[in-house]
Amino acid sequence: MRKKHGLLKMMVTAAVLCSALLADSNLRVVTTEYTLRYSTLPREFDGLRIVQLSDLHGGVWGRDNAVLLKRVREAKPDLIALTGDLADKSTRLSDIDTLLAALCAIAPVYYVSGNHEWTNRLIEPLRAMFERYGVRYLRNEYVTLRSGEASLILAGVEDPNGWADQPKPDEVADGLPEGFRVLLGHRNYWIWNYPALPVDLILCGHAHGGVIRLPFVGGVLDHHLTLFPGFTSGVYHSGRYDMLVSRGLGNTSGFPRFLNNPEVVVAVLRRG
Ligand SMILES: [Fe+2]
Repeated sequence: MRKKHGLLKMMVTAAVLCSALLADSNLRVVTTEYTLRYSTLPREFDGLRIVQLSDLHGGVWGRDNAVLLKRVREAKPDLIALTGDLADKSTRLSDIDTLLAALCAIAPVYYVSGNHEWTNRLIEPLRAMFERYGVRYLRNEYVTLRSGEASLILAGVEDPNGWADQPKPDEVADGLPEGFRVLLGHRNYWIWNYPALPVDLILCGHAHGGVIRLPFVGGVLDHHLTLFPGFTSGVYHSGRYDMLVSRGLGNTSGFPRFLNNPEVVVAVLRRG
């Protein structure tokens, strides 16, 4: 009888612990800061802080996304990079409108598309919001950021779910001017598909951190239900560039996130 009681107690404790971890993994937004060092970074951009928000999927944390916005403000961004899947078919576009207005009041905002915006025909309604608030949508193009005499190239590529006749990412990268080059591109396939792309840093997402994460293992599933997918979180090196993969904020997999909190990424660029 005492043995049965002990087993029941263990089961209840495990269930409570799992529920608490599940709630935390889906509701508590965390910030992950990466310091990335480059001898080629112009001195004028030493310390540049890029806040990356990826795979929001229309998620809302707090009234009018107050929790998420607090995280972004605390990160003191010089610029904000939205790396795709900002919205999907279940998104209330008024939530995105409110969020974009607030983000643009914090720092300049740059956006590249994800697969879901194309699949769900959301590009045009989003473009109207971008124009309203001044979000710069990088459509296989680049902008030159300047600080004193120095410049930094910030490029963005469309998701391959876009127009069939659009230029390939390597064609876009090959056309970039000389200088330190940061590329925004939604998918996490860069090292697999384009290992020699002539850029210095790529910011991407798409993998949702592997949805379920385990200690010492990493991502267990991706949103296509692939087991143990690669390149799900953190910084990877191709030999030519660094690829920073955000675990993203939202979810579309049908499984809840586990040990994989919604993530605000901060990339701090340092010279050295
Ligand atoms: Fe995606």
